[in-house]
Amino acid sequence: RQSITILGIESSCDDTAAAIVRDGPEGRQILANVVEGQTSLHAAFGGVVPEIAARAHAERVDGCVSKAMAEAGLGFGDLDAVAVTAGPGLIGGVMAGVMCGKGISAATGLPLIGVNHLAGHALTPRLTDGLAFPYIMLLVSGGHCQYLRVDGADQFTRLGGSIDDAPGEAFDKVAKLLGLAQPGGPAVEAEARKGDAKRFPLPRPLMDRPGCDMSFSGLKTALLRARDKVIAEKGGLTLADRADLCAGFQAAVTDVFAEKTRRALALAPVGALAVAGGVAANLAIRAELETVCAVSGVRFLAPPLALCTDNAAMIAWAGIERFRSGARDDLTLSARPRWPL
Ligand code: KG4
Ligand code: ZN
Repeated sequence: RQSITILGIESSCDDTAAAIVRDGPEGRQILANVVEGQTSLHAAFGGVVPEIAARAHAERVDGCVSKAMAEAGLGFGDLDAVAVTAGPGLIGGVMAGVMCGKGISAATGLPLIGVNHLAGHALTPRLTDGLAFPYIMLLVSGGHCQYLRVDGADQFTRLGGSIDDAPGEAFDKVAKLLGLAQPGGPAVEAEARKGDAKRFPLPRPLMDRPGCDMSFSGLKTALLRARDKVIAEKGGLTLADRADLCAGFQAAVTDVFAEKTRRALALAPVGALAVAGGVAANLAIRAELETVCAVSGVRFLAPPLALCTDNAAMIAWAGIERFRSGARDDLTLSARPRWPL
């Protein structure tokens, strides 16, 4: 197998990232993986501010690339191509990355490969575990929520997903409603561990509807009502109330994922299911998915968290897969805010 080394660039949300991945006779190697987050820049605004993100990406992306090249100890002459996220995402940020990729390509003559950010997530278990096609990918983060059947590096079938909020977004909003720290996922999970999940029976939205579609916005509203009822009765929330609300919410989300995962496996009977995205860090959700897969005799894979959340190694890897299949882009590559798989 011919050795291929690709520089990946990612800037579609609030992480500026550059990574170098090699696939060759020695296997798959991540030679560098640089991620610069922007959480502190957006903290005061309760969400990612596109204009601030775009500016930060533009300021930082070149530096991330230099850092990655230095970390790998390589020069541009050692690379076979440069792969860059061309969407979907916040357009200003995607443009900053695409411009950087084009600049490197124009200056060095390296081929340019545009990568779909979602394809990057979806192909990650092939980088981390060499997983063979076909498999199901459950992508659950602050911005994404979908089940994908993955049959090839460029063959994705959406089996279902959230019709409103992404689950991470719901965790973040719940944390806000309960006065917990952001990002909300880890805070809600920590509270849930201390709480009684049965005290506040919250809805399991869309359970009665066939297929794998999900909804999380009504669940958040139901939690808000339960919270307000307690406040009206007692004049405030105790620590136990807060923990019980978190436990009830997390149990509802976990139940939804368990049932929808059973359905996804029925719709696409494949040998493996992998997860990616920040919400896949949740141990309760992870354990439940593991159980569902075990019962169905399906292999369950959860890549290391640093490769589950936004990073450029997944973009470099998707670039390698596209490069091998002969895909090439040129300087007409455009940044796309929307780009369904
Ligand atoms: O994949 P990610 O880092 O970024 C994107 O959204 O692209 O995911 C971040 C999301 C946040 O909404 C965060 O609250 C959620 O993942 N998250 C969690 C946990 N850790 C992070 N949600 C539930 N449980 C967790 N332990
Ligand atoms: Zn992502």
